[in-house]
Amino acid sequence: MSQNNNGQSSTFSRRDFLKTTTGLAIAGASSVLLSGTAQAKEVKSGWKHLNGHHSDQKFWKEVSKEFILDKKTTYMNIGTTGSMPRSVLNSYNDNNHIVAGNPWDMQDKFGDWPHTTEMTDAISAGFGADNDEIVLSRNTTDGMVSILNGLNFAEGDVILTTHHEHVAAISPLTLVAQRYGVEVVYLEIPVFTGSEEISAQDFVDVFADAINQYQGRVRLITFSHITYKTGTRLPAKAICALAAENEILTLIDGAHTIGMIDVDFHDLGCDFFAGSGHKWQCGAGSTGILYVRRSSQEQLAWFINSSLGHLDSFPVQWKLQYKGNDNFPALQALTDSCEMWDSIGRDKIQEHALDLSAQCKDLLTDNAAFPFGQLYAPNIRELSSGITSFNPFDDKTNLVVLNEFRDRLREETGYIIRSTDFKVNVNDLLDTHALRISTHLFHTEEDVTGLVKAMVNIYQTM
Ligand SMILES: Cc1ncc(COP(=O)(O)O)c(C=O)c1O
Repeated sequence: MSQNNNGQSSTFSRRDFLKTTTGLAIAGASSVLLSGTAQAKEVKSGWKHLNGHHSDQKFWKEVSKEFILDKKTTYMNIGTTGSMPRSVLNSYNDNNHIVAGNPWDMQDKFGDWPHTTEMTDAISAGFGADNDEIVLSRNTTDGMVSILNGLNFAEGDVILTTHHEHVAAISPLTLVAQRYGVEVVYLEIPVFTGSEEISAQDFVDVFADAINQYQGRVRLITFSHITYKTGTRLPAKAICALAAENEILTLIDGAHTIGMIDVDFHDLGCDFFAGSGHKWQCGAGSTGILYVRRSSQEQLAWFINSSLGHLDSFPVQWKLQYKGNDNFPALQALTDSCEMWDSIGRDKIQEHALDLSAQCKDLLTDNAAFPFGQLYAPNIRELSSGITSFNPFDDKTNLVVLNEFRDRLREETGYIIRSTDFKVNVNDLLDTHALRISTHLFHTEEDVTGLVKAMVNIYQTM
């Protein structure tokens, strides 16, 4: 693998985009979108333009009306998958009809081949990327597998990752280890268990120490921006800067970032970023966003050297995008959802998800009803995400009782959350289990207080 190129290929950022008239025109195809008032306005994709402060609960209540989630339940498992907004779903259904009725030309609904250029043009600046750096993938797993199988490694190379990764990373990493004789090192990252002080620097230090230990051998660092196990948000920008200083490539698993965190890829400084479109971004199922920094595209020998025949002269982004025939209505639904997020303001959505997460953490800790209660991500803004992980029981290794609690919560009160398992320390013999709560743009403070009350009630009867 050749050395990482530290130079930014483009300095155009998401923030620049929002300041330009081009950006105004791109976002939702209407300049009305970003300059709108509190008054609702209809736009291209059919959803109402809503404007409000991130702490205004009435505003988020209005936003929640854009979703068709079952009113008998409160859905708090976005970490598994999200829910398409009503208007996005309607357009998706219309587009499916167009494709079923006109499979040959799809009524030119999605532009020229590869039928995704208008989509990436519309959404890339919202992520602080250039349009030829964004690939519409199938999901995070697809993105992770594509990059890990696209890089060339040599025997003896080291890949650094963490002990809290998803199978979307572990599976292709295992294959790469077997195929090339690469050593994959699962570093123990700090896991909050209540009393210890954890800082962003602690995470950076874990990688810095390993780079020193494996002097000159580390070729790639890959980690979850937000771990699915505890919801801890790693200091991705600082880790990428450390990697770049050491000419090490970075691949981020951003399954939980896209649609929740206001991410700017150029500013983040990673080489590759694989995220989900169907989770926090609330696009259609089986969609994802893959970012490939322009100056790092040459690293993907698998794509560039493959015999694509007539595609040889095409831009790398097209080659990455072309994986046989695709589900264009689904990719358009992801695009529509991204435009809706850009219009509301990704910064506002992030702050709201983090506000609710902080509220949830506050209500769960120091709560007399949960004498054994334990959070697994610290209530520190920069390390937080819209995911809260918590175990109210004395025995943190008892999955049966925790799952009974989760199921009763759903059946008796309608709050839908899930459980996760992980090792606190890499050599733990037993897994620790936690409940995982997702808070997003269709929730309000009322939903969080309702959840905690319901949890207290169920806990008292177990
Ligand atoms: C951290 C992480 N990475 C990857 C994935 C897989 O995501 P996808 O279903 O989009 O492939 C998940 C799914 O929950 C996840 O939590």
